[in-house]
Amino acid sequence: MTTLSLSSADAATLSTDVLVVATAPAGGRKKGAVLVGPAASFKAAPKRRLEESLAALGATGKAGDLVRVPGTGIASAPIVLAVGLGSGPHDDEALRRAVGAALRSLAGHRRVALALPQETSSALDAIAQGALLGAYSFDSYRVSSKSATKSAVDRVTVVVADAKDAATVASANHAKAVAGGVNLARDLVNTPSQDLTPADFAAAATEAAAGLPIEIEVLDEDALTAGGYGGLLGVGRGSVNPPRLVRLAYRPEGATRHLSLVGKGITFDTGGISIKPSLNMHEMKGDMGGAAAVLGAIVTAARLGLPVNVTSYLCLAENMPSGSAQKPGDVLRTYGGTTVEVLDTDAEGRLVLADGLVRAQEEKPDVLIDVATLTGAQVVALGIRTTGVMSNDDDLRTSIHEAGKAVGENMWPMPQPEELRANFDSLVADLTNIGLVGRSHGGMLSASIFLKEFVKDGQRWAHLDIAGPSYNPLAAWGYTPRGGTGVAVRTLVQLAAELGAQD
Ligand code: BES
Ligand code: MN
Ligand code: ZN
Repeated sequence: MTTLSLSSADAATLSTDVLVVATAPAGGRKKGAVLVGPAASFKAAPKRRLEESLAALGATGKAGDLVRVPGTGIASAPIVLAVGLGSGPHDDEALRRAVGAALRSLAGHRRVALALPQETSSALDAIAQGALLGAYSFDSYRVSSKSATKSAVDRVTVVVADAKDAATVASANHAKAVAGGVNLARDLVNTPSQDLTPADFAAAATEAAAGLPIEIEVLDEDALTAGGYGGLLGVGRGSVNPPRLVRLAYRPEGATRHLSLVGKGITFDTGGISIKPSLNMHEMKGDMGGAAAVLGAIVTAARLGLPVNVTSYLCLAENMPSGSAQKPGDVLRTYGGTTVEVLDTDAEGRLVLADGLVRAQEEKPDVLIDVATLTGAQVVALGIRTTGVMSNDDDLRTSIHEAGKAVGENMWPMPQPEELRANFDSLVADLTNIGLVGRSHGGMLSASIFLKEFVKDGQRWAHLDIAGPSYNPLAAWGYTPRGGTGVAVRTLVQLAAELGAQD
């Protein structure tokens, strides 16, 4: 794992393998890049040498531009990497992405020092997050390919004005906790389902909460049966790996507000008897990205000691076809009693979430948020980088959108058209699990209308559909790797902090 430390030494004399400095487009009529941040005040001779090298190599200073030059005559480091921040203003997300891209490109090097502009009080946090998120790697399954794969940077040092300053240290610690939560979620998404059954996930949650002030309760299949959790049991029935419901509770002394989080945790979604086509089905190992996000968020909240009560429910099941699997037309009795006719076993996420949402409301949280890789329709509507936000409360929807902006997670508000409700009328039960119009006609919105049936009047609630954003099947970019992204953790932590600050 990559470690991060602070140094107030002179960047030019730091002992490191690579020194990272920042550039921006020169602007105006000038072509090329100018140095920004600490490198802009290097001594005249080394600065000129660095500028000349960058010009010769065609550095542009545009966002993501990466140019390496030999450190000779510039700094003690044998390599200087200039990363472009783009034209200003250099907000936190610009820094986070640039640093993430730099750290990815430096895989294979051991020690890296970052001498970058820190104009705002949150810049250091962004730089440190960019480094720890960009350096992420998942190679626990590599054996013979291990030596051919460059390993992540080992040690990152961030150059700061005063490494002992309390606010500076607090920023770095905040970044470490947040990146830890995001990388935990990424690891869980990337882990093959063979090694992450519902029971394995519950064990991973127990391990993640160990040593933190988090109370954890795991309901196994017997407890779920006794409690009447028909959604989880129905979805999990076809699998040899039975379902689990995990409840994690963080209750700091003196906190009055309560944020409750519910995550979809389908450890593998074959679709069940309504089986999916085989193309890219392997990506369904990531159908527990919502549960991973709410676990990452509560662990981070506890590590930061946020003054707010947080509860996370992980709704864990494996959706498999088999002789014992639920069949189209079967009726489930979800937790709390509402019956659902399962017309499509591939619309399973909403069934496990129904149990989780009803259970979570027994504690009357101030805010209830569920997070789920719920619909392919989300990917069609918003693509793979933008989370859909649906809510029964305009202010909550807006504050989630804003929190996402503040931390660099793209989200977009989506409506909950009431006419979609009639689609879920069943011939035999209280509800069907798939609208009569099926996958078309606003499938993402439709799924949220189903969930809304399990939310009590007056309960402030929002639903985040992260089907696309939780898994990046394309090339890595900025601080986002291929595979699991850990999306939503940062927004949820931000929301928890905001709720705690309302006291
Ligand atoms: N897990 C899928 C949704 C999904 C699709 C996640 C693509 C990530 C990438 C979900 O369980 C599902 O199968 N949804 C169906 C719902 C339909 C049957 C109403 C879908 O979107 O096709
Ligand atoms: Mn499905
Ligand atoms: Zn699913």
